[in-house]
Amino acid sequence: MTDVLVPLSRLRSPRDTLGRPIRDLRISVMDRCNFRCPYCMPRDTFHDGYRFLKTSERLSFDEIVRLTRLFVHLGVRKIRLTGGEPLLRANLPDLIGDLTSIPGIEDVALTTNGVLLARHAAELKAAGLNRITVSLDSLDPAIFSRMSGGFGGLDDVLDGIEHARSAGLVPIKINTVVQRGVNDHTVLDLLERFRGTGVIVRFIEYMDVGNRNDWRPDLVVPSAELAARISERWPLVPLESNYPGEVAKRYAFADGQGEIGFISSVSQPFCGDCSRARLSSDGVLYTCLFATHGTNLRDVVRAGASDDELLELIERVWTARADRYSELRAQIRSSQASQSKVEMFYIGG
Ligand code: GTP
Ligand code: 5AD
Ligand code: SF4
Ligand code: SF4
Repeated sequence: MTDVLVPLSRLRSPRDTLGRPIRDLRISVMDRCNFRCPYCMPRDTFHDGYRFLKTSERLSFDEIVRLTRLFVHLGVRKIRLTGGEPLLRANLPDLIGDLTSIPGIEDVALTTNGVLLARHAAELKAAGLNRITVSLDSLDPAIFSRMSGGFGGLDDVLDGIEHARSAGLVPIKINTVVQRGVNDHTVLDLLERFRGTGVIVRFIEYMDVGNRNDWRPDLVVPSAELAARISERWPLVPLESNYPGEVAKRYAFADGQGEIGFISSVSQPFCGDCSRARLSSDGVLYTCLFATHGTNLRDVVRAGASDDELLELIERVWTARADRYSELRAQIRSSQASQSKVEMFYIGG
């Protein structure tokens, strides 16, 4: 494969209907997962007989790299690899090596549940991965088990975080989904453990992604409430965003023991700056986490489309984009309740 597939004269910077550029490409490399978090892959749906994608249905590494190069021509600078669980994808470091060498890519990160991280951290770093985000909802073993569907071990995840730190996959971020009455009383323990270690814990408001997790507004703990609870123990001071459109609102512990974040898609939607595109593991392009339909790029690639044709297609999709689900949540939920949204495990969050 050549380094530059299309002439520089083709470099474009499309804006969607709300003026938002495309900067961030989130690539799901694996629809399977070794957890069954009830808010994402409830066990009664994702049982032994569930039909996941066949290997041939998933994008190959060459296809992912080719599409990524084209996205770079349209403005993408950041890549996040997701799943399901991305570390279940064989030979992932090969893909990371290819992605990090694409001119124009500034950051390649990965989101994992951490169970296989101890085994893979060093090779991921050696392949060029910059940093890692680990999902971890509680340090209480019973709550961890409940929130991960009874799979995986808390100790393995903590071990994975240690290996990631030793390998230099920093800054390490932890994503904690907070559900009222489930794990909200354990957030202080989580912070106690990671304060002063350089690990950045981020609390995510429980979201109505997909169709199967029985989301209810009363299960959401608004970030303002959580921040107030945390501040009573450790005062917090707000920090500036790292970059425009950053999903997490950042805070520092006033005593200098590090940083935390809040991802408040329900109480404080951040669609206004959303420059994220998502590619499922079978090559469907989605322009919102809550999308009800996407554009199948894989079939177009496999039908022999040229780079120019693919660029035109992606640009057309992006310039037509009007998504702002979180800002319109209440309206959309009442009008389209029956329309099926894409599932979280399938596009990776
Ligand atoms: P960095 O700031 O680059 O570290 O990445 P990030 O904040 O995008 O990180 P990450 O992928 O870990 O995102 C954290 C979580 O925020 C995701 O798992 C989702 O749950 C949520 N999230 C990310 N992007 C969006 C988005 O566009 N819309 C909504 N509603 N939620 C999002
Ligand atoms: N609401 C909020 N966060 C979620 N995640 C998965 N499902 C949901 C949901 N319904 C989080 C995971 C992981 C990331 C990929 O998305 O915990 O950190
Ligand atoms: Fe797997 Fe992540 Fe979904 Fe949990 S949230 S089931 S770890 S993909
Ligand atoms: Fe972007 Fe959709 Fe999330 Fe809004 S709801 S921030 S448009 S992905």
